[in-house]
Amino acid sequence: MKLFIDTANIDEIKKASELGIIDGVTTNPTLISKVSKISKDTDKKSDFKDIIKKICDIIDGPISAEVISLDSETMIREAIELAQIHKNIVIKIPMCSQGLKAVKYLKTKNIKTNVTLIFSAQQALLASKAGASYVSPFLGRLDDIGQTGLILIKDIVDLFLAQNIKTEIICASIRNPIHVIDCGKLGAHIATVPYNILNQMIEHPMTSIGIDKFLKDWNN
Ligand code: E4P
Repeated sequence: MKLFIDTANIDEIKKASELGIIDGVTTNPTLISKVSKISKDTDKKSDFKDIIKKICDIIDGPISAEVISLDSETMIREAIELAQIHKNIVIKIPMCSQGLKAVKYLKTKNIKTNVTLIFSAQQALLASKAGASYVSPFLGRLDDIGQTGLILIKDIVDLFLAQNIKTEIICASIRNPIHVIDCGKLGAHIATVPYNILNQMIEHPMTSIGIDKFLKDWNN
């Protein structure tokens, strides 16, 4: 199972990268807005590109950068610009008709895409048919509204297995360490994990108690 880090915070990405267990990065406009200080529209774009470039210099793996337009032509223009930043860039495109059109076109240009905001297996199927390299089902946001996000992950995993679909599943909107393990057990390819959850995955109270005891016994 591959682990991506779900953040645009360079410090967090550096620290996670040093662990040697991170295979890629996902960002979205919300995550970018948390780290960018720029408010003027003209400078926003270049700051966004600078952040993405910095991420590419740290992690050698797929780096998702999201388009912000809603029509396929502008999405494609944005995607081509972003793809020029680095060979590892994957264009994140929201699930919608215009997005599917853009994905289909970008596939012919060998530009990888990650179709985001997936909330049903049928959306995942359409994205894969358009030629998406990745789909991102959001399980936490389903849990938030009282539905079971893991059922969506299972549906997509089962469908892709039954139909031999090669699009990789990035489990997104992860809210806790158990989500990661459940997604792995279901056979999803990737979980994209916020930095705080990565740290929760490292720690266990019994491990800390064990380390303390070993050190105490050694010193005595
Ligand atoms: C990742 O690709 C998504 O953008 C992200 O996981 C969304 O998470 P959220 O529901 O916590 O915003």
